[in-house]
Amino acid sequence: MKNIQSLISQMALEEKAALCTGASPWTTTPVERLDIPELIMSDGPHGVRRVPDVNAMVIESLPATCFPTASCLASTWDVDLLHKMGEALAEECIALNVDVLLGPGANMKRSPLGGRNFEYFSEDPYLAGEMAASLIDGIQSRGVGTSLKHYAANNQEFQRFSISAEVDERTLREIYLPAFEKAVKQARPWTVMCSYNKVNGTFASEHHYLLTDILKNEWGFEGLVVSDWGAVRDRVAALKGGLDLEMPGPQERRVQAVLDAIRSRELDEAVLDEAVRRILNIVFKAKETPKNGTFDVDAHHELAHKIATEGMVLLKNNGLLPLKGQQHIAVIGRAAENAHFQGGGSSHINPTKVAVPFKELKAQSGNAEVTYAEGYPTDDSFRQDMIDQAVGLAQSADVAVLYIALPTFKESEGYDRSDLDLTDQQVALIKAVSNVQPQTVVVLNNGAPVAMSEWIDGVAAVLEGWMMGQAGGAAIADVLFGRVNPCGKLAETFPLKISDTPAHLNWPGGAGEVRYGEGLFIGYRYYDAKEMPVLFPFGYGLSYTQFAYSNAKVSAETFGAADGLTVTVDVTNTGDLAGKEILQVYVHDQQSGLVRPEKELKGFAKVELQPGETRSVSIPLDFRAFAYYHPEYKEWITEDGDFDILIGASATDIRHTLKVTLESSLGLPCILDKESTIREWMADPRGKAVFGSFYDQIETMSRKIFGGGDERYGNESAIGMDIMDMMNDMPLVSVLAFQQSALPMPAEELVDGLLMQVHSMDK
Ligand code: BGC
Repeated sequence: MKNIQSLISQMALEEKAALCTGASPWTTTPVERLDIPELIMSDGPHGVRRVPDVNAMVIESLPATCFPTASCLASTWDVDLLHKMGEALAEECIALNVDVLLGPGANMKRSPLGGRNFEYFSEDPYLAGEMAASLIDGIQSRGVGTSLKHYAANNQEFQRFSISAEVDERTLREIYLPAFEKAVKQARPWTVMCSYNKVNGTFASEHHYLLTDILKNEWGFEGLVVSDWGAVRDRVAALKGGLDLEMPGPQERRVQAVLDAIRSRELDEAVLDEAVRRILNIVFKAKETPKNGTFDVDAHHELAHKIATEGMVLLKNNGLLPLKGQQHIAVIGRAAENAHFQGGGSSHINPTKVAVPFKELKAQSGNAEVTYAEGYPTDDSFRQDMIDQAVGLAQSADVAVLYIALPTFKESEGYDRSDLDLTDQQVALIKAVSNVQPQTVVVLNNGAPVAMSEWIDGVAAVLEGWMMGQAGGAAIADVLFGRVNPCGKLAETFPLKISDTPAHLNWPGGAGEVRYGEGLFIGYRYYDAKEMPVLFPFGYGLSYTQFAYSNAKVSAETFGAADGLTVTVDVTNTGDLAGKEILQVYVHDQQSGLVRPEKELKGFAKVELQPGETRSVSIPLDFRAFAYYHPEYKEWITEDGDFDILIGASATDIRHTLKVTLESSLGLPCILDKESTIREWMADPRGKAVFGSFYDQIETMSRKIFGGGDERYGNESAIGMDIMDMMNDMPLVSVLAFQQSALPMPAEELVDGLLMQVHSMDK
């Protein structure tokens, strides 16, 4: 390993400034004089989009395996599988001479309309964090870097280059940051990519609080922060904020701006040196892995196939699936011939090969006659003739399999979806076909939920195939014919309609900002709180077998927050087929100082079981499973009290509830201040100790002043209210001000005195 410090001291100011901005769209600036090589980056996240000429921003990339996109990956709930995918991605990076793969994306799915949701894992930060960490670990275990993106609060495409996500601190900490936090702390990505947008008015690329205070200082991120491509507005402000590398390059003006700022002393050279240090660390780390060679195209295609089968989610099945013994299968829908397996934009991969769904189905259909109708056009036009043709075919068959892909004009990077709907043609097609053929299966290819209420009752089965990667066509056939027992479960809620969704009233914003008004309540957290029905809940997915849960236990009924606890449950396959079950553990806080979601996912496990087999599964819950972020303490806190541990097969299918009691040993600092209310004084142990004995006096006085205590009114005052119900939530100083004439000193001084006493108890 090079001595980075000594290298920095040998670098000219111009060389250092140049290193912090790319030399080409995909490479950093080399310094030949000092043997500092370039670093080569490529998209990401579910395949390697290596352009053969790094000076070209977008040209056809070299063939690489297109794995399923993140929606499908997360639906596997399989951290080991994601690790394997990461290893395969790294092998391809090595073969294609890529040092850093730009992914994964760990943004939350705030609304199902987000155009890029297909590239993101989940609406749940815990699940997204687990997935991201495992994928990163897999890639980096082979000496290839990653770029965890897009940090932070980049949850929509509308005005993504400029809009300000207006989000409160607690929501940031509990919803939008934890997946990044988990991935950074656990898997140590070599790079983190800042997002385009502003967060609370400041560009993410300049955000000192996000990049330096939280990411680098609090979470201990050692790698480099790279800009999203074109995310920097002010290079100097970005360096000050903690952004080390600007991409893409070349950008002479940016380099000059840094030089000017240092020469005019606007920018401290130490800030530049720190960015240079971080970049050089990664440049030399990357060079420890020799590049070029080949990768096993077939083995990776097979891995992509395996992942796709594990990620597909069987949403409905009236017993038609798995298909068996049908003599004539009508295959309808152009996605059967033209597999829709990835999304549009920077993640678009040039696949090594593609499993065509129609061919794969035919290959598994034995002697059955398999016929095909295109069903819908490539564009938004309405073609009754295509529907008529499909209906004719469906009528004469034993079963109709509809391959319905949400077109890219409805879903892609760069723009959000305007609705949850399939095209009018697709809806009409499904209805017409299922009308004449009740044995209809709908196979969906999309990156995010679609509305189904118009047609779902008429069809026999629905398989969510996602953007399934290049081998997905074979995975569909495997599931339809039962060669594989489906086991995927949703990593995001499928709502009934768009107006039900959490961000609906605050989407997509305007006048430069989007307000995260729903706060903590995204995804199932929202539907729980509103007691709202959904089409399919978070964590849901069917199998061709059934599972029973029994014997649920916790390692301790009373536990210290720092120790956490372990949940154990037996899972039995009660059906006739081998299968896999994904069980989920949610935590519900029975009472807390600040409002909390009804329940939150804090653990999960995936088990494979033969028919009749039982396995005991243990899931650990740590401090963070019970904690919430308190914006006044500015830290994650736990509180004494009872929690419910919910063990479920989905967010709405809870099989066991266990009550536990947490004893928090957290020594929280006193946060009482001049504005603290009476209730806050009484809730704080120190506050209660110094102030508690005055409470009765204050109550008596207050009632007297407002005419209460008078026998005629009981506890009500002369103005028809219980005055203490109001006073308890008033600042102590304001309550005392009403009683000033009876006090020995000004109310402010009295409160100052009390505050001195409570704060001295902290020391
Ligand atoms: C995307 C990133 C991507 C980068 C490079 C940007 O537009 O937001 O995800 O890695 O381009 O292609």
